Amino acid sequence: MSASTPAATSLDTPDGIAAQLERRRRAVVEAWNLGDEVVVFGAGDRVPVPGRADRMYPFRAHSEYLYLTDRERPGGVLAFDPHEGWADFVTPVTRDERLWEGAHGDAQDGRPASELEGWLVERRDRPLASLGARVARVAADETLETELRYALNHVRRQKDELELARMRMAERATSAGLAAIQPLLVPGNSERQVQIELEAEFFRSGADFLAFDTIVGGGPNAAVLHFTPSPRPFGDGELILIDAGGEYRGYASDITRTYPASGEFTPEQAELYGLVRSAGLAALARCTAGTEWRDVHLTAALVIAEGLVEFGLLRGRPELLVEQGAQSVFFPHGIGHMVGLGVRDAGDVLKGRLQRDDEFPRLRMDLPLLPGHVVTVEPGIYLVPALLHDPEFRERHRDAVDWERAERLLDFGGIRIEDNVLITDEGPEVLTADVPVLI
Ligand code: GLY
Ligand code: MN
Ligand code: MN
Repeated sequence: MSASTPAATSLDTPDGIAAQLERRRRAVVEAWNLGDEVVVFGAGDRVPVPGRADRMYPFRAHSEYLYLTDRERPGGVLAFDPHEGWADFVTPVTRDERLWEGAHGDAQDGRPASELEGWLVERRDRPLASLGARVARVAADETLETELRYALNHVRRQKDELELARMRMAERATSAGLAAIQPLLVPGNSERQVQIELEAEFFRSGADFLAFDTIVGGGPNAAVLHFTPSPRPFGDGELILIDAGGEYRGYASDITRTYPASGEFTPEQAELYGLVRSAGLAALARCTAGTEWRDVHLTAALVIAEGLVEFGLLRGRPELLVEQGAQSVFFPHGIGHMVGLGVRDAGDVLKGRLQRDDEFPRLRMDLPLLPGHVVTVEPGIYLVPALLHDPEFRERHRDAVDWERAERLLDFGGIRIEDNVLITDEGPEVLTADVPVLI
């Protein structure tokens, strides 16, 4: 294992950051085109751990605030008045924060938060939107908020060079972690052992946080979509699914790979692994500017339906199976989501498009891809007892599924392969391409 330190990106300098913040704020103002309305963005506050006296969860500034300030500090409010521009209110660092946390920096970063009240009073008769974490005691206009957030998300989705540089840092750490744990993927080692070494290598390789709770599932646990690693040892011939990511300065990587515990897949595992891989490659090829996200999902769904008919778990014409949603018995989630500032970035359902409440699986967004978007592409096939024994599922897909075959594969677990993909004018760029895929 290497003990490398992160190479600072040339963009991640005070001047580089200031230039991007200015660009972002300008882009947002242009997208809003406000008249008399004013906007505040809250950073959010520390969240106490219930019942644990003075313990707090690690503070994470609201993504919308972080995007426009690059400041991970509680209590701040960024305000905008179209007649006067931006005002950045920050909470002064307290003596306790200096003592307990070694905090430094001060109100020189902005105006003292105590001045916010006066700023708001001067504008009390104007429509106001509270974005980011809700700012206490302001009477906000929810319709205006929805509109402004929608436009802000549109700007945020197109990653700038600084964001991409940080994502690449997060990716390098994640890739190093996945390389480091390869020797541990053998029968007898546990999910927990893998988690420990994986996360240690993320941090050694420059990550400063986890993008989300690490998922390691062996055997049947690989069928639990977000499984929390346990002390359970891997068994001979089992699958091991690892879905994990480091974060760097707020930016995430989100990678899944599935491995055979015994070094080689069984023929059934190999067939389904190859199928997930084919679905991923087909979906990746659709990750081009202008393609509807729904179509990326449907492309993968169709490949999976075709493959499962051939494998013998589904019966019928693949197009019809997808229309009825039968493949979702084994592929029960969407093809992916936006990733970037955090593991769930600014995905949206475009205006005028309705999300049906009974849609299964629910896609996390409904929009066309554009250059600068970064999405995950993460098809999977799982044998999930909770779904296979669900009476409503069994009834709805009575003729489409070979339930007996599925029952015989109940301990199979699951396979997911997840990559992060940047949409460019020249086509998809797989940001996670340096993490080997087995077939
Ligand atoms: N890392 C959880 C997910 O794939 O969304
Ligand atoms: Mn993931
Ligand atoms: Mn994901």
